[in-house]
Amino acid sequence: MALISWFSLALVAIATSCTLASPVRGPLETRASNDGAFSPPYYPAPKGGWVSNWAEAYGKAHHIVSNMTLAEKVNLTTGTGIFMGPCAGQTGSVPRFGIPNICLHDSPLGVRNTDHNTAFPAGITVGATFDKELMYERGVGLGEEARGKGVNVLLGPSVGPMGRKPRGGRNWEGFGFDPVLQAIGGAQTIKGMQSTGAIASLKHLVGNEQEMHRMSSVVTQGYSSNIDDRTLHEFYLWPFAEGVRAEVGSVMIAYNDVNKSACSQNSKLINGILKDELGFQGFVVTDWLAHIGGVSSALAGLDMSMPGDGAIPLFGNSYWGYELSRSVLNGSVPVDRLNDMATRILAVWFKMGQDQNYPLPNFSSNTDDEKGLLYPGALVSPIGVVNQFVNVQADHNITARAVARDAITLLKNEGDLLPLRRNDSLKIFGSDAGPDPQGLNSCADKGCNRGVLTMGWGSGTAKLPYLITPQDAIADISPTAEFHLSDSFPSSVTANPDDIAIVFINSDSGENFITVEGNPGDRTSAGLHAWHNGDDLVKAAAEKFSNVVVVIHTVGPIILEEWVDLEPVKAVLIAHLPGQEAGNSLTDVLFGDYSPSGHLPYTIPYQESNYPASVGLLQQPFGQIQDDYTEGLYIDYRHFLREQITPRYPFGHGLSYTTFDFSEPSISIVTLLDTAYPPSRPDKGPVPTYPTNIPAASEAIWPSNFPSIWRYLYPYLNKADATAAAANSTKKYPYPEGYSTTPKPAPRAGGAEGGNPALFEVAFSVEVTVTNTGHRQGRAVAQLYVELPDSLGVETPSRQLRQFEKTKILQSGESETLTLEITRKDVSIWDVVVQDWKAPVRGDGLKIYVGESVLDERVECVVGGECSTL
Ligand code: NOJ
Repeated sequence: MALISWFSLALVAIATSCTLASPVRGPLETRASNDGAFSPPYYPAPKGGWVSNWAEAYGKAHHIVSNMTLAEKVNLTTGTGIFMGPCAGQTGSVPRFGIPNICLHDSPLGVRNTDHNTAFPAGITVGATFDKELMYERGVGLGEEARGKGVNVLLGPSVGPMGRKPRGGRNWEGFGFDPVLQAIGGAQTIKGMQSTGAIASLKHLVGNEQEMHRMSSVVTQGYSSNIDDRTLHEFYLWPFAEGVRAEVGSVMIAYNDVNKSACSQNSKLINGILKDELGFQGFVVTDWLAHIGGVSSALAGLDMSMPGDGAIPLFGNSYWGYELSRSVLNGSVPVDRLNDMATRILAVWFKMGQDQNYPLPNFSSNTDDEKGLLYPGALVSPIGVVNQFVNVQADHNITARAVARDAITLLKNEGDLLPLRRNDSLKIFGSDAGPDPQGLNSCADKGCNRGVLTMGWGSGTAKLPYLITPQDAIADISPTAEFHLSDSFPSSVTANPDDIAIVFINSDSGENFITVEGNPGDRTSAGLHAWHNGDDLVKAAAEKFSNVVVVIHTVGPIILEEWVDLEPVKAVLIAHLPGQEAGNSLTDVLFGDYSPSGHLPYTIPYQESNYPASVGLLQQPFGQIQDDYTEGLYIDYRHFLREQITPRYPFGHGLSYTTFDFSEPSISIVTLLDTAYPPSRPDKGPVPTYPTNIPAASEAIWPSNFPSIWRYLYPYLNKADATAAAANSTKKYPYPEGYSTTPKPAPRAGGAEGGNPALFEVAFSVEVTVTNTGHRQGRAVAQLYVELPDSLGVETPSRQLRQFEKTKILQSGESETLTLEITRKDVSIWDVVVQDWKAPVRGDGLKIYVGESVLDERVECVVGGECSTL
């Protein structure tokens, strides 16, 4: 099964390769632009190792890299080829120093395409919990499972896409349509994952906001996301900066171009922003088959090519591997750059302690069988035991259930229809309440929508080890419940006055290499409507029953207008994408063992035309789509507020079975912002140094009697090629325009991981006491939004989420005081001229709102003044 999906990806890449000869896209960065989008050159690549927290790991890496041959270093940078090992990708190994093939594998919600793993709730579900501890705990579970399976680098979390396009296919892999929600979700996940020794790979940098045309085909070129500097900094980069601050080990580069330069070789993005300004100390890896140029990408700061293949996968060619060895020998790629790549990769490996008994892969994503091909991509491959069926689930089902439960978002609950009583007479409708009739995991990478929707489709999935469906869980509690698990309303059903109908509907999306029911990843044909005539099903139920509960499993915003105001539709719950514990988490809430405490991680509009026109999906038969981010910062609620469009349900909305009072708010200044710009950044610390002379050709020549595997990617050259390269008689590769070996001045906004450390000092602290004023237990979320003053000189969104905290379970009458801290960066705008973050001095004119949604202004604080409650 896995092979099929991988092959389709490979085919896309074969198509991609055909455009490489076209005049519009060469191996160099394309910078010329008709419409002003431009990615300036930024060279040379900044070296890693200057941050003190990393000194020890870099010291160890330096020691080893100093003693490695050219071929050994190159081997660490290049994947062994698609299907050339058990994982989605693996680097070459360096046995002389005990370094195995480093296994990189999906996904952000569990270990993909294996067994005895946990299928955790998806990112969007995690975002909806607004619960930092659960975010962390799930990260720990993911890391433990990755480690248990021998995955060195787990390919997640995803914080890009950011939900710019509501129909975008992969929004559900991330945490919501707001940079701070994404940032906190991402950073907590990274910290949790990496606490186990597994390396996180934060993806996709950046602008991969729609699935269609993300890669090139024979006739089109992957789109260019044209993002202005301010929007990039204040919106799309924000979660990446926080991920770097959380010390993420790896960042994955997106397929698309940013400002007309392919992300995989965009020197401004990688060298300039990620490595210099944000101070990233780990390694940068391509998305799969996103590599399009050898020397250009090396100079632009790329450190690892995955899965290693060149223009045409499975042909045994690579832009790196053999070619990287050659380009170092002939002087095209400075050996210093290669040393930096290898040092970064090894430093991460040491920092996470992977030199200490980290397991080797004990599974194969290529087959479910115990024995199989070790290198399925080779024509003739040895066979061996590939699956050891190691159970890594531990008690992660508890976390999975808690996340899914605490994400459930109650949109309405007229007359307190919910919670249900255990003896209520229930009639359940919709295939989304039940199992996949064709069996658990019956389609590869969840590329179908049958039964309860537990996750979207594509590489961001994991197999379900088991599935508790809503049907299972409801039947367990209510033996009299009647199930009609069909998407057309049964004509025969009788409605008694006391009956409560529960209707299950869903909306799915996924990754572009699979098309489901006419949707090529993005929700092209389904739009923002429920699949499988879900709207009709709800309406039919509402015609017959006077009490209807609607449960929605969805990847993102969904239009509810056909039925949400119908009188019988009393309650609506969004259960997001719950993973394996779909049923239990839902009944926990439906029957009142827990109050719902999830909040919307996006806005629900009345209609799709409420969004700006510029965030629609783009399709174009030929050439390159120019996706201009003309709406700037005005994504999701920021747009609704500016245009004064009332949403159906605002960002952050979520009801409980109880009610909460916010009282005694106060604000204090923790660090005085006595200047508009932060104090000067610290200087960089020292970086490892190596001799810069070109290594001897012998370091890259095939070892004698080497048992090579056909099509497997190796770093070696034959003797004649190596000697010719070293003698400089082979042609040097062309250099990108603007290349320079003179380091740029250190960016003033940098200075540590994530940026200038002064940006992250707490500036203001807000306290508020939350009291449960209702009759049931429950948890409240305090969301803090800022309104920046006009004195900053630029227009800013009128509310921006900057912090949130969730209470413990509060019993009726119980209180908890929450502290919400915000930093200098949280109250700053990105000054595109000064290239630094600018804050209102002393916070003058800054307003802070705390409430249970973006429209809830129950608490208002004016800096330098008082806080008040409405
Ligand atoms: C492509 C996807 O975009 C990325 O998210 C994933 O990690 C890789 N494939 C590997 O499967």
